[in-house]
Amino acid sequence: MFEIENLLRRRTVKNFLPEKIPTATLENAIKVAYRAPTSLNSRPTILLDISNRRNANWIKSQPAVATAPHLFLFAVSPEAGEMNARKFLAARFDSEIDDARVNATITRVVAKREEWARQQTYLTAGFFAATLEASGAAGCLIGGFDRQVATAELKLPQGYTAELIFACGFADPANDGSTETDFVRKFDDFYFPKN
Ligand SMILES: Cc1cc2nc3c(=O)[nH]c(=O)nc-3n(C[C@H](O)[C@H](O)[C@H](O)COP(=O)(O)O)c2cc1C
Repeated sequence: MFEIENLLRRRTVKNFLPEKIPTATLENAIKVAYRAPTSLNSRPTILLDISNRRNANWIKSQPAVATAPHLFLFAVSPEAGEMNARKFLAARFDSEIDDARVNATITRVVAKREEWARQQTYLTAGFFAATLEASGAAGCLIGGFDRQVATAELKLPQGYTAELIFACGFADPANDGSTETDFVRKFDDFYFPKN
């Protein structure tokens, strides 16, 4: 069940039970991820189920991959993002996608196109992961993989690059593989101002 308490005690989990996440729960998280905010409605991110690629060389050594029943990949296309943003602006200005006002806004907002697109991918992944975690599932974001090799092997749609993976399932209560240490920033050092 969807409970905020699940998020209030969320940890990254790397050991999972074999049981799969119910389809309805996954579908909700996918829809929420689609709804994630993007700059200028650019939506540069796509989401792929790559659960059947767990034995690929570029991912298999990640600790969370060994037991996670699901692997989801977020891929990004800065070019597609810019084109979507141009269409959005053109509709707003009632103009063409390369109109002077469109170009001016793109130049101002999209100065570093790759970085701009990737920031949105991480936000989308955050919405996806948090929705699953609030629903009682658990997971581990994975950025430590060879993106070039993954992109080539997965034959992503033209222009898309593999960016971030979310390995997920239900935590193994015997040992969830979470990695909390005493060195993490404490809540008191996180939120300001103090009363
Ligand atoms: C952008 C990003 C990339 C990450 N990449 C990896 C990774 O490659 N392998 C891994 O085991 N964990 C990865 N993690 C999970 C972190 O190790 C984990 O969030 C961190 O240990 C803090 O634990 P917590 O989420 O329980 O607070 C990543 C997390 C984020 C946000």
